[in-house]
Amino acid sequence: MFDEYLQWKPYFEIVPMEADDCREISELHGQRFPRQWSDGEFLSLLLQPNVFGFVARQTNAFFSRPAAGFVLAREVAGEAEILTVAVGNKFGNLGLGWRLMQAALRETSQRGGEVIFLEVEAANQAAIRLYRKLGFTTVAERPAYYAGPDGERSTALVMKRDLR
Ligand SMILES: CC(C)(COP(=O)(O)OP(=O)(O)OC[C@H]1O[C@@H](n2cnc3c(N)ncnc32)[C@H](O)[C@@H]1OP(=O)(O)O)[C@@H](O)C(=O)NCCC(=O)NCCS
Repeated sequence: MFDEYLQWKPYFEIVPMEADDCREISELHGQRFPRQWSDGEFLSLLLQPNVFGFVARQTNAFFSRPAAGFVLAREVAGEAEILTVAVGNKFGNLGLGWRLMQAALRETSQRGGEVIFLEVEAANQAAIRLYRKLGFTTVAERPAYYAGPDGERSTALVMKRDLR
């Protein structure tokens, strides 16, 4: 019994994002980004026909099925972009970023996407490692692109992956 308790680990499923998820997703977004997107912002994006997303939900929590991460993407005429991706503070390094991105890449291909882009802060090494492992390469740099809360500017990388 005690051994089972020690071996307990969280399990997750990756499911399509729905309107009802937006409040929880907004909260997760606020944990990881300096400017939180509101649930209304998520909803208005999700309602666009070319936008889709996935949510990672823990399936073996005691009282609920908490959202642990999300990805939101858009595909138009063969070209796609990752709009945002994050996992909650408590759920890092469990493979969820990988699984969410794989779900987004698969869905993009199924919608006819031939190439997918994303933007990432050059200092965000955890995200850049994930994207490189998924086959993204850097195709452009945008110096002084992001403005931090203190007014300091930082570089953005544009990364790309072919899906054909
Ligand atoms: C970037 C972010 C989404 C990564 O999510 P995560 O769930 O912690 O990452 P994962 O556990 O999936 O990946 C962790 C590592 O395992 C690798 N990995 C995971 N599953 C894998 C698999 N099945 N096969 C191969 N590699 C895998 C990842 O590439 C990564 O490698 P590293 O050890 O060299 O860093 C997360 O850190 C985050 O939310 N950051 C804040 C928000 C953010 O920066 N978003 C991106 C903005 S552009």
